[in-house]
Amino acid sequence: MRSEYCGRISRQHLDQTVTLCGWVHRRRDHGGVIFIDLRDREGLVQIVCDPDTPATFQTADKVRNEFVVRVAGRVRHRPEGTVNPNLVSGEIEVLAQEIEILNASLTPPFQMDDETLSETVRLEYRFLDLRRPQMQHNLRLRYRVAMAVRGFLDRHGFIDIETPMLTRSTPEGARDYLVPSRVHPGHFFALPQSPQLFKQLLMIAGFDRYYQIVKCFRDEDLRADRQPEFTQIDVETSFLEQRQITELMEELIRAVFREVLNVDLPNPFPRMSYDEAMALYGSDKPDLRVPLKLTELTDAMKEVEFKVFREAAQLKDGRVAALRIPGGGGLSRKDIDDYTGFVKIYGAKGLAYIKVNAMSKGAEGLQSPILKFLKAPVIATLLERTGARDGDLIFFGADRAKVVNEALGALRVKIGHERGLAESGWRPVWVLDFPMFEYDEEEKRWVAMHHPFTSPAPGHEDLLATDPGAARAIAHDLALNGWEIGGGSVRIHRQDVQSKVFRALAISPEEAEAKFGFLLKALQYGAPPHGGIAFGLDRIVTMMAGAESIRDSIAFPKTQRAQCLLTHAPNAVDEGQLRELHIRLRNPQP
Ligand code: AMO
Ligand code: AMP
Repeated sequence: MRSEYCGRISRQHLDQTVTLCGWVHRRRDHGGVIFIDLRDREGLVQIVCDPDTPATFQTADKVRNEFVVRVAGRVRHRPEGTVNPNLVSGEIEVLAQEIEILNASLTPPFQMDDETLSETVRLEYRFLDLRRPQMQHNLRLRYRVAMAVRGFLDRHGFIDIETPMLTRSTPEGARDYLVPSRVHPGHFFALPQSPQLFKQLLMIAGFDRYYQIVKCFRDEDLRADRQPEFTQIDVETSFLEQRQITELMEELIRAVFREVLNVDLPNPFPRMSYDEAMALYGSDKPDLRVPLKLTELTDAMKEVEFKVFREAAQLKDGRVAALRIPGGGGLSRKDIDDYTGFVKIYGAKGLAYIKVNAMSKGAEGLQSPILKFLKAPVIATLLERTGARDGDLIFFGADRAKVVNEALGALRVKIGHERGLAESGWRPVWVLDFPMFEYDEEEKRWVAMHHPFTSPAPGHEDLLATDPGAARAIAHDLALNGWEIGGGSVRIHRQDVQSKVFRALAISPEEAEAKFGFLLKALQYGAPPHGGIAFGLDRIVTMMAGAESIRDSIAFPKTQRAQCLLTHAPNAVDEGQLRELHIRLRNPQP
């Protein structure tokens, strides 16, 4: 039907007759001459229809935005002064000899180059939204990333093996999506939260190097970087230590960035312990583009008069920390109030501050509502530790460490970007030496920080029973510009160690047998040492595309409320279908 893509027509086609198919991006009637911007996946080309060819002109008169048309015509120079340097086809235009309407379109609910669309409309009309050049770009970028990943892993001896979607629960810390069984009344499959256990079984089966670009399903609270169904680049290897796994995997990420974006990421990626990340950045996925760091003050605040600081410093899991903002002395009362409101989202009760006007004047040169509660030596300590200079402002957080880290960690990133303190570019960092467990206050028990199959650090096996909070894991997360783009670990390959971890997680032997009996069994048949990682493909592509939300790198995403606005899923099903599945609803829909 066509001889070329619209977006590929260039000077090389001058004086040739071409046939193009595409969508009418815009139609302009310049009294006597009609211009059509014709669009296909490669871009735009300008079609000119003049009244000298009356049949063509009449058809051109009828076309409207988003009609699909076929155009035959001759390529010629654009007149002087109308060249568009932003388009491949910007120097030329096609003088239409024939136009055929292949299909009409209803008036679209939005213009394809509108940048201010509501997401609801976009998702409802996703088939139109995806026509927009930005979305075309994002999905092709996603494809190129996936191809680069496959190429690299193939060259390094990894094989792609599919694992089941109808399976048992694979715990990664979220709720399961369940699928009822018709054949087995009252029984349910779970959709995988990840292929974790299957990839471990594949190592036990001797495949040595596995990968899969695979859908995972997690019923959890959604945010800009989370979807209920998302895609992992899932990798597992045998007989490699953590150092080798992380080196190979950062090479993968470097190769992808080089191939797809022509960007050279650092070699090697910097490495940081979890403790260091929390101490300096308040986050286990630090955005290293922002140079600001937290300053530890807990030890210095144990005896101060200011109750907020003293009490936090004396808590077992308390922390007092400072965040120095260079040049922050210019912040207004309102700025500080806004930041105080911001940290409250993270549970902080306030945001104390000191403005440093003139260090040489001692306490006189400082300005703060809390100065009267702090003695000179403490003030000297905090000025020295934060490295304060005239014109700075120092913020303080005092609370349980978790609250201080989340609040000041988020504030650090916000202020860093808002006040132009952040560098541009890509700052990957490995975060290592994670704790095995974190304490779940609501459930009053330890839960796995990664997943329950993560190996404890050498020599930490005994801590599993005696001091679970102190046990460290051989786990590794990869953070990029403040996003967690990958996480993995060396796994437990001995049944006795796995059982100890289950015990630490208050999973009884009976429960462990019922839920993970197949794994415990397999571990006893010559399981090799193994480990791996999974990267979030959606997140990587989103960052590469410079998009805000991972919804912009997924063709058909769900909303924040886990719905598909296009197909209206999830939806009610009829009684007959429920009966077949042996299900009766507690609150039947009217
Ligand atoms: P983890 O749970 O860290 O590890 O997941 C790996 C990576 O997947 C991405 N990710 C998500 N992306 C979008 N939406 C979500 N809801 C979502 N959840 C996670 C993140 C994350 O780093 N089985 C282990 C991996 C392993 O140990 O090898 C796992 O699933 O980028
Ligand atoms: P208050 O004594 O409650 O009036 O607080 C005095 C200052 O300390 C105010 O600037 C508060 O914003 C700040 N503040 C209160 N609670 C905290 C906290 N937990 N961490 C940091 N600053 C706080």
